[in-house]
Amino acid sequence: MKTLNIYIETFGCQMNLADSDILAAIMINNNYGIVQDVKHADIILLNTCSIRDNAEQRVKKRLKEFKSLKKRNKDLLIGIIGCMAERLRDTLITEENVDIVVGPDAYRSLPNLFNSIEDSKRVVNVELSETETYDDINPVKLNSNGVCAFIPIMRGCSNYCSYCVVPYTRGVERSRNPESIIKEAEELFKNGYREVTLIGQNVNSYMWNNSYMLDFPDLLKAIASINPLLRVRFATSHPKDISDKLLLLIAEKPNICKSIHLPVQSGSNRILKLMNRKYTREWYSEKILSIRKFIPDCSITTDIITGFCTETEQDHIDTLSLMKWAKFDAAFMFMYSERAGTYAAEYLTDNVPKSLKIKRLNEIILLQRELSLQSNKKEIGKVQQVLIEGYSKRSNDFLSGRTTYNKVVVFPAKNKKPGQYVNVLISKCTSATLIGEIVD
Ligand code: 5AD
Ligand code: SF4
Repeated sequence: MKTLNIYIETFGCQMNLADSDILAAIMINNNYGIVQDVKHADIILLNTCSIRDNAEQRVKKRLKEFKSLKKRNKDLLIGIIGCMAERLRDTLITEENVDIVVGPDAYRSLPNLFNSIEDSKRVVNVELSETETYDDINPVKLNSNGVCAFIPIMRGCSNYCSYCVVPYTRGVERSRNPESIIKEAEELFKNGYREVTLIGQNVNSYMWNNSYMLDFPDLLKAIASINPLLRVRFATSHPKDISDKLLLLIAEKPNICKSIHLPVQSGSNRILKLMNRKYTREWYSEKILSIRKFIPDCSITTDIITGFCTETEQDHIDTLSLMKWAKFDAAFMFMYSERAGTYAAEYLTDNVPKSLKIKRLNEIILLQRELSLQSNKKEIGKVQQVLIEGYSKRSNDFLSGRTTYNKVVVFPAKNKKPGQYVNVLISKCTSATLIGEIVD
């Protein structure tokens, strides 16, 4: 029988990129092929994101393009997997005319579903699981630079922030077996990788509580102990789970990167309450002070949502003032996008006009650009250790990598290669990039 070839396209977050690698492993183990060029595909799978409406619109646009390929090749199968599959379920079959719909916890069933497709055409499996972590699957790296890898350590989320669709599309929080995580990190190091990022919706609420107990700092310590040349990062942290134990460990271990992504979402206590974030502006500020106390040079980045339900000018000003006080090194900033089924969609009014959301978002972006520039300017004149990740997009004469603070640095190559550590003297910067020269 001919081997069927699968083309996987991934949208959205790091978690989806890691899931596509798991999916590729499942399919290869079941004698399917993976192709990088859609022209050679018998099956197209779109691994999708539902976090905001524009993420779904991007997928729909791409789906339209793929459907035109189907007109030329009647046997081509198109599947939607991931969060949109979970959220929209069979409507994707009736309205978008796709053949396969599979949610994030049902990837193991894909090979069987493909077999049954031949008889009945069109299959759906969106069952969520309380235990699935794919921990026994050795992912196939689809889009890797061979230096940095993501390792999922937990799945799902049980926080139910009122605006967020994730608990509904990815199910409840569950932690992966630590032994399989450590083994994966060891293998990656042996294969030349020099940085792993432990990922999950709330990595620091990681808790293994089966035959023994192991929390997030314990796991992080075990991974950082594999080899001093293996850098370790983690994302995303919920502020409620940042403990002194974790901060002390980051301060102590040189190969745990000094960079914490700590989404604040809003600087207004009224909005934080409506968002069900379970902390106040003052409590969050205390967390920032503890980070700075334990790790004085730590970079702190954040996520901000602007224009959430009932947000007033004063709420917006509160967000701007918190940003200025915290001096975030970088931020991801979003306009609120109502997601059906969430608490906010059911019980709150999305009453901030789009034009005002755009205006506030622009103000936030402008302020953050200035804060990022100030943060980068502080690096000028300093020598930073950089892990080389690849060549600069503009020219092969330049390399690019990141500092422990997660800042991108570009510098002349001088015969160095991806995967090596170099010391770089920073001489210039923009708000997004540091520029320098190797000094050793
Ligand atoms: N609208 C806008 N942004 C959202 N996020 C999550 N849900 C929404 C939404 N409905 C943002 C949050 C989160 C990041 C991953 O996406 O800032 O931290
Ligand atoms: Fe969504 Fe909140 Fe869970 Fe993050 S913590 S995934 S924002 S519900």
